[in-house]
Amino acid sequence: MSTVITRKLSGEELFRNIISHCKEYGFIFQSSEIYDGLSAVYDYGQMGAELKKNLRDYWWKAMVQLNENIVGIDAAIFMHPTTWKASGHVDAFNDPLIDNKDSKKRYRADVLIEEHVAKIEAKINKEVEKAAARFENFDEAMFRATNARVLENQKKIDEINIRFKNALEANDLAEVKQIILDLEITCAVSGTRNWTDVRQFNLMFSTQLGSLSEESSTIYLRPETAQGIFVNFLNVQKTGRMKIPFGIAQTGKAFRNEIVARQFIFRMREFEQMEMQFFVKPGTELEWYEKWKTTRIAWHHSLGFPQSKYRFHDHIKLAHYANAACDIEFEFPFGFKELEGIHSRTDFDLRNHEHYSGKKQQYFDPEENANYIPYVVETSIGLDRLFLATLSQAYTEEQLEDGSTRVVLRIPPFLAPYKVAVLPLVKKDGLPEKAREIMDRLKLDHLCLYEEKDSIGKRYRRMDAIGTPICLTIDHQTLEDHMVTLRDRDSMQQERVAIDRLADLVHARVSLQRQLLQLI
Ligand code: GAP
Repeated sequence: MSTVITRKLSGEELFRNIISHCKEYGFIFQSSEIYDGLSAVYDYGQMGAELKKNLRDYWWKAMVQLNENIVGIDAAIFMHPTTWKASGHVDAFNDPLIDNKDSKKRYRADVLIEEHVAKIEAKINKEVEKAAARFENFDEAMFRATNARVLENQKKIDEINIRFKNALEANDLAEVKQIILDLEITCAVSGTRNWTDVRQFNLMFSTQLGSLSEESSTIYLRPETAQGIFVNFLNVQKTGRMKIPFGIAQTGKAFRNEIVARQFIFRMREFEQMEMQFFVKPGTELEWYEKWKTTRIAWHHSLGFPQSKYRFHDHIKLAHYANAACDIEFEFPFGFKELEGIHSRTDFDLRNHEHYSGKKQQYFDPEENANYIPYVVETSIGLDRLFLATLSQAYTEEQLEDGSTRVVLRIPPFLAPYKVAVLPLVKKDGLPEKAREIMDRLKLDHLCLYEEKDSIGKRYRRMDAIGTPICLTIDHQTLEDHMVTLRDRDSMQQERVAIDRLADLVHARVSLQRQLLQLI
């Protein structure tokens, strides 16, 4: 076996290379690029759409197909405007924003402060790194506890955090501005400290329904898919004869007018969520919350990426509707960040919908012989973030023994956009016809790609770059012995296999049954 060296990339380099790879190979394009794009909106290309669909399908199969008590729906993006009053989004789905009067640039006030804190943290880390390089048997904890500069900076961070937390809790926007002034934070564009007051900015996009322009016709683009599930709770429960505990799942677009939208597809203004609301008997919700934490982390691990890439982050400060909440964080190239949220939402949503609609949102429990509003445990993952997590883990640059390099997307085979590439060695002598014959058999079960242009080496590289797990090469010998060369993406190993065995071999390599089995 040949020696392969994987290039070590810094997080920044990795992220930059993933973004350009996505564009070069048809995974992700900037929206309306010919008009210079639209900020924080992206289009998925021919490869990206397939990978995204496979991720979505895997989630759906794990949630709906494997669980008899979970069903899926597809609710509309537009909902009655009172929905968002009841959910709290009209009054409370806000970010604090501040403008610089000179550059006219808008910032999230909390992000300005958090970034300032991050800069001080970076200073501390640099100090620690420098000392670690100087001293043998370096004791980091001791150094942090005794070094004057580190202590001083840590004190600054603690003070800012306490002031900032208190200001947010009291919704004291004047104090938030004062913190920005006290920290002497300047605008990155104008370099000045000429700030407006801090004000709350609602993240929902609104539009008008029909031809009326009065306020009563204002409707919103949904900022989460969850409410489409809540307002259909009784429809589904009754028509599906569902018994508590049961879940309703949904995937679909959500929209948020993010003030600071960056980091590629990590934070977008139009994105896709995969959410499941699990309705339970009041009093059992924390038990179910723990169960869903275990189930969801097992699902992430089943993708096959290192378990060290995931961690739970429990929320200390809970939203007003939650009695427990956590994030599953993933180590993206720019650090650990939220990938999925798991929330015990109590009966907040259904109770409010009952109040605002005047229609009972209750379940009759035959075992208890009583009516109640169920409690809800929610799992909510961003499909685009899952996509980015997958690429962050799959993207690899390798140096091969012969000095050449390859970029390979080590996407789990069951998720890869194309499963098989069918490659006639040359464009003549009946090889394309034989290749088409093989392709016609396989394409009934798998997405296959036929390519006859360029040398076989170049075609293998191209398939590596889009993550195709299997290449089948049809050569002159194939016409005689009915065998093809099967090349494996990850090991680059090649073997001759009989055409009759291909269906089974491909199935064994790319089927998602093995992954799903881990979840049963
Ligand atoms: N229904 C609950 C809810 O919407 P959230 O934590 O605001 O909770 C859930 O969002 C998930 O949606 C996040 O964990 C993240 O993966 C994804 N998400 C949220 N805002 C996003 C954005 N602007 N761009 C991309 N994904 C986003």
